[in-house]
Amino acid sequence: MKIVVIGGTGLIGSKLVKKLRDQGQDVVAASPANGVNSITGEGLANALKGASVSVDVTNSPSWEDAAVLQFFETSTRNLLDHGAAAGVRHYVALSVVGTERMLESGFFRAKLAQEKLIEASSIPYSIVRATQFFEFVDKIADLSTEGNRVRLPPVLFQPMAADDVASALAGIAMSSPVNATVEIAGPEQFRLDEVIRRDLAARKDPREVISDPSARYYGIQVSERTLVPDDGARFGETRFEDWLRSATQVPKTGRPGA
Ligand SMILES: NC(=O)c1ccc[n+]([C@@H]2O[C@H](COP(=O)([O-])OP(=O)(O)OC[C@H]3O[C@@H](n4cnc5c(N)ncnc54)[C@H](OP(=O)(O)O)[C@@H]3O)[C@@H](O)[C@H]2O)c1
Repeated sequence: MKIVVIGGTGLIGSKLVKKLRDQGQDVVAASPANGVNSITGEGLANALKGASVSVDVTNSPSWEDAAVLQFFETSTRNLLDHGAAAGVRHYVALSVVGTERMLESGFFRAKLAQEKLIEASSIPYSIVRATQFFEFVDKIADLSTEGNRVRLPPVLFQPMAADDVASALAGIAMSSPVNATVEIAGPEQFRLDEVIRRDLAARKDPREVISDPSARYYGIQVSERTLVPDDGARFGETRFEDWLRSATQVPKTGRPGA
């Protein structure tokens, strides 16, 4: 089966490409670096020729409101049009748990627009909504930092390892389309402030985490269950503490770090 991974050089894409190849699939890792651009259309027809499955794990280079909407609308339209022309039978895309609850943010308005284009297209699809990646936890801290303090709301939070996201996507890409949205999440539920506090402590980062119910997440007002999946979600296996231990252990020849 030929599977094209658009965004195949990214965090999730590169892991997904490896997992699919390990399963014996014929995989194309498509991205601008490899001459395939979902915005300009460059290389798309050739990459998708003979493909059964197209997996969209792209991300926008800019998260500014207008730019990110433009990216996901243009990219998704091009991928769907070229996919339909190439006879793709399953379109898989990665989105985010709680997208419709975070529309205060331009990024999530863009993700919802992406989802709606996929749902309206003629290609059978599976939309996979994941919770925040463990690898994204650092960025959440940075986005909520003022001086030496990180202010975050103590809402429920169920992040997952990028590796588990890629495993779930690989399984879904090799299965029949569900023509619906599937939610995936980490195996444990925490409080957002607590995870960031543990992450910073493990990295010996001196910033102090302040629990503040009125603080925003990524500029968005969130409530208790905004970031966590509904019943029926599938769970990854990797526990945050285990991931954090390996992400922060000192390599034999290098400096501490991820
Ligand atoms: N961060 C989170 O916690 C989280 C949670 C749930 C879902 N998600 C979703 O997961 C998806 C993937 O995230 P990620 O962290 O793996 O992204 P990433 O590491 O930033 O990778 C993005 C990929 O998109 C490619 N790309 C960018 N512009 C492109 C274009 N015009 N044409 C084709 N490919 C293009 C990049 O290629 P180059 O390397 O060549 O630029 C790269 O391969 C995103 O849609 C995001 O919304 C993220």
